[in-house]
Amino acid sequence: MKAIILAAGKGKRMQSDLQKVMHPILGKPIVQYAVEAAKEAGFTDITVVIGSDGEEIKKGLSATHKDLHFAIQEVALGTGNAVQAGAGRIQPTDEVLILCGDMPLVTSDFIKEMMQYNHAEKSDAVVAAVYLPTPSDFGRVYDENGDFTEIVEARDITPSHTKTDWANTGVFLFKGDALLNALGKITNNNNQNEYYLTDAPKILREEGKCVKVFHTRETLAVFTGINTQIHLAEAVAHMRNRINARHMLNGVRMLDPTTVFIDDTVKIARGVVIYPNVILEGDCEISANATIGMNTHLTNTKVCANAHIRQSVATNATIGAKTEVGPFAYLRPNAVIGDRCRIGNFVEVKNATLGDDTKMAHLAYIGDAEVGENVNYGCGAITANYDGKNKHITKIGDNAFIGSNSNLIAPVEIGKDGFVAAGSTITNNLPPNALGIARERQCIIPDWKRPSK
Ligand code: UD1
Ligand code: CA
Repeated sequence: MKAIILAAGKGKRMQSDLQKVMHPILGKPIVQYAVEAAKEAGFTDITVVIGSDGEEIKKGLSATHKDLHFAIQEVALGTGNAVQAGAGRIQPTDEVLILCGDMPLVTSDFIKEMMQYNHAEKSDAVVAAVYLPTPSDFGRVYDENGDFTEIVEARDITPSHTKTDWANTGVFLFKGDALLNALGKITNNNNQNEYYLTDAPKILREEGKCVKVFHTRETLAVFTGINTQIHLAEAVAHMRNRINARHMLNGVRMLDPTTVFIDDTVKIARGVVIYPNVILEGDCEISANATIGMNTHLTNTKVCANAHIRQSVATNATIGAKTEVGPFAYLRPNAVIGDRCRIGNFVEVKNATLGDDTKMAHLAYIGDAEVGENVNYGCGAITANYDGKNKHITKIGDNAFIGSNSNLIAPVEIGKDGFVAAGSTITNNLPPNALGIARERQCIIPDWKRPSK
């Protein structure tokens, strides 16, 4: 079973520097959805047709799917010409699927249903048609009780054409020999001077082959090709609903799924609660019964069971079980927070490991650090980890107490059970169980007269 996915053409109407099919929808480029639908339907040998400027598509897709073949259509002379360019691997006995790379919402279930119809009808070609009673850009499909007659492009419709409510989805199945035969006979004899793929079923029908129309009950939105940023936003909304529905059916509770954007790659366990305005990107993994509070943006972040995050941002971070984060915390790459910790408001953590039960309740910064268990890191405490040239490490032992507003000048080590007095600037290592105090003593001047204005 072989598939050809058409992805050539810059897509001028996107008004973008990116190749049209490389625009992202919830963590994946548009064309990757088409590739994955074909794969899930059982098509293992896939050729993606790209333009001569399509190197970016090849690079992008190969990162996640190493087994794809690519064919180059030098000039975009039409969908028929694109399939000609991509047909190099087709053998007469193959079952061939043709998909448009700009249609991310086509599902493997739809393709499988179409294949079942194809097998039952023993057809040489099947055209999938969708119900569309209003005028639009879609080609119009004519058939008699499922026997294909022709497809007429919207722009080629004349008053002599009778009305049909069925549109060409752009998804086809062909027997390899039938496709190869028809491709050799397509001409550009139309007012666009394009090679239309839609001529292939007509040629086969005229040769007496079995060409059928599969009338799908899917909605039109599923087959909308993305040509503008407006289409892209509509497809994101559709995909978002689909992804959110999948999670809700698995027992995730969402207060307002219309404002929750979850990449297709994210894993979420049962019992998780997601508040409004949440974005979960990349390889996030949210474990059972965690709560993701409103306005939270997580990227590649692991959240363990029963953690509670409120209004916070985290990238490449790990948040331990029953740990509370936020409101307004910022976990930067390689922040690894233990279980039952508390990262409070206006706390920033970067490249630091925090042991279980450690607390940084408010207004603090810790970077490039190894922190033990049950540490209390006071309000306003910071690590001075950067000397303007190099980054240095701070180590804090178990049960240490870092008083409010202290500066830990790295490299420095605070021993187990060490105690840093509030307001201290610590430049030397503090041994275990010791008190470090590093500040001017208070002096009192009695009866102080304020300077007169
Ligand atoms: C095509 C169909 C139309 C159908 C519609 C569904 C033809 C002649 N028309 O029209 O009946 O209703 O799709 O969306 O087939 N592409 C190439 N090379 C080309 C031209 C197109 O690779 O030379 C690719 C595009 O990247 C796109 C797909 O083919 O992924 C469809 O092309 P598009 O120009 O959007 O076709 P339509 O004119 O919309
Ligand atoms: Ca189109």
